[in-house]
Amino acid sequence: MSKVSIIGAGFVGSTIAHWAMVSGGCQVVLLDIVEGLATGKILDLIQAGPIAGHAVDAVGTSDYADTADSDLVIITAGVARKPGMTREDLVQVNANIVAAVIKEVVPRSPDAILLMMTNPLDTMTYLAYKLSGFPRERVIGQAGVLDSGRMRTFIAMETGISPHNIHTTVLGGHGDEMVPLVRYSNIGGMPLSYFLTDEQIARIVARTRDGGAEIVRYLKTGSAYYAPGASACRMAQAIAKDAHEIYPASVFLQGEYGMSDICFGVPVILGRRGVERVIELELNDEERAALRRSEYLIRSTMASLKLEK
Ligand code: NAI
Ligand code: 2OP
Repeated sequence: MSKVSIIGAGFVGSTIAHWAMVSGGCQVVLLDIVEGLATGKILDLIQAGPIAGHAVDAVGTSDYADTADSDLVIITAGVARKPGMTREDLVQVNANIVAAVIKEVVPRSPDAILLMMTNPLDTMTYLAYKLSGFPRERVIGQAGVLDSGRMRTFIAMETGISPHNIHTTVLGGHGDEMVPLVRYSNIGGMPLSYFLTDEQIARIVARTRDGGAEIVRYLKTGSAYYAPGASACRMAQAIAKDAHEIYPASVFLQGEYGMSDICFGVPVILGRRGVERVIELELNDEERAALRRSEYLIRSTMASLKLEK
């Protein structure tokens, strides 16, 4: 049975714990810096077990000793955005939190895979990669599963076709310049244009890019967590089951897509060792230009980063 530690017991972290316990097959440790928060949430989830019929093998804690020898550590600790804020606005405060978390996690679980959730996602994944000293295969950022899931949802809403028949590919950074790739998306193997007009496709692309902000505008005090939690669990399962499944994920690039020294959303094959392979799609000029715009936004965010000593 694999051991999964989730750092940050806020909306995203506790939702991941819930999905993970319902899926079963792993021991869950939920940790938060706020004394009692993770303990209370796990106690509540354990008590739901006999009623809902899910696993109860879970610990809530503020002590990093409980995370020792984790196979997977999912990092959600940080601040979420409020209406009017971009994910990039969170960079300074969340960088210091992520740095503190990495310092505690890495010596206790030197062989773990790190799955990053904290925003701005690509910059935080880069920071975790640099500070952990782990190989790039073991530092992965979750964003593309969520963004492609949102695009699938919007296509299903527009066409009335089951999302199970809809495949979408969203690459690039988890920001307003993310790149929904229409040419690499399909409905039952058919191009989107078979079912949708250009105008409908443009609307879906725009709504996908705005998907996180749309929810923030409704919630007013925080951001999404059900779909983000499900996305993290999907990736965790692919890793735990050594599934060799393809997902978009933010990983450290070494020349792929003409980029280096950046964490960027690209399709990867996931298995027990983490990222088994980065897949390079053939892109046309327009798609390449869109990736460059996304790269530029991430690099500007990275440049604004100053860590506290
Ligand atoms: P939240 O505010 O509900 O929870 C964050 C938790 O982190 C709090 O309980 C806080 O006490 C804890 N925390 C802060 N510093 C800590 C530390 N040093 N050690 C341990 N725990 C610490 O926020 P929420 O909604 O759970 O979001 C968390 C992060 O995930 C945000 O940065 C948000 O932007 C990001 N996010 C990312 C998504 C993605 O797809 N990658 C999707 C949704 C949110
Ligand atoms: C989202 O896209 C806030 O990144 C988070 O919902």
